[in-house]
Amino acid sequence: MNARVDHLPFATPVRGGVVAGDCLAVLRTLPAQRVDLIVTSPPYADQRASTYGGVSADDYVAWFMPRAEQFARVLKPTGSLVINIKEKVVDGERHTYVLELIIAMRKQGWLWTEEYVWHKRNCFPGKWPNRFRDAWERCLHFTRERRFKMNQDAVMVPMGDWANTRLKTLGANDVVRHDSRVGNAFGKNIANWQGRDRAYPTNVLHLATECGNKGHSAAFPQALPRWFIELFTDPGDTVLDPFAGSGTTLAAALELGRNAIGVELASAYVARARDAVATAREAAQALARARVVTEQELIFPRRGATASPQIPKDNVPS
Ligand SMILES: C[S@@+](CC[C@H](N)C(=O)[O-])C[C@H]1O[C@@H](n2cnc3c(N)ncnc32)[C@H](O)[C@@H]1O
Repeated sequence: MNARVDHLPFATPVRGGVVAGDCLAVLRTLPAQRVDLIVTSPPYADQRASTYGGVSADDYVAWFMPRAEQFARVLKPTGSLVINIKEKVVDGERHTYVLELIIAMRKQGWLWTEEYVWHKRNCFPGKWPNRFRDAWERCLHFTRERRFKMNQDAVMVPMGDWANTRLKTLGANDVVRHDSRVGNAFGKNIANWQGRDRAYPTNVLHLATECGNKGHSAAFPQALPRWFIELFTDPGDTVLDPFAGSGTTLAAALELGRNAIGVELASAYVARARDAVATAREAAQALARARVVTEQELIFPRRGATASPQIPKDNVPS
């Protein structure tokens, strides 16, 4: 095969695997600074005790922090850790273990860079005496450094109707950057967005839950890890899910041309995650083969074909 084609990201086969065991022990065997992104949903304390066990809310931070130490060791300095979690209700009030976890993570040297919200568009209706149905979960974003890998353009969204209304009637204050008239320093130059059809998203992800056929009681939708993988990694990077469950993160990573490492304690889920990895790896390899063929044709167009001589810079699949 031509050398020019070989070095293209999608010509490199992606690798993925699931290791059975406690992530604390398994990650100790992994070399330092091996991983670009960790996206995971750990047990929500003992909320699913009947299906895969768990840890009591009071003991949660002490249980989690040795594992977080391993996450810090295997993560590259430019890497990110995204933890999808939500505190449960104990004795009629929200437990504070997630808040305590954030504080403990900061003490361990992590930066609590951002908090994204997963808004569950399709949560079940219900009635409780003291609250309404729970329609959101936290996605805590931790980094080791203030400067980390972030491909903001990869997750841009359509500008939407807003562009047709607000941007058509710009006032004098909109065409220069101005600190708000109430002095809150949230200045913005709205005119910068005139004529554009895509904008940066908010930190709220509106995604439906999809547990249906995954055989796991707490699987998240594939769109959730996918969004963070596109945002925080490049093709060929390595994504880790230390609480892999049914392998949702791993499948998303492989389908996006990233390598994937999973760790899972429960043997039934190890099998599920391995199936998910095998299916996604085949899909990724088929996509890679199709891309190599397309890119070869761009470089060596068939006689009579009018192909562009440029290799596309953007290899991120849509
Ligand atoms: C919330 S679920 C993850 C679900 C996953 N995101 C999915 O989409 O299928 C948490 C998983 O962590 C696993 N687990 C619990 N403790 C673990 C540990 N110490 N090491 C590795 N996996 C563990 C559980 O068996 C469970 O499958």
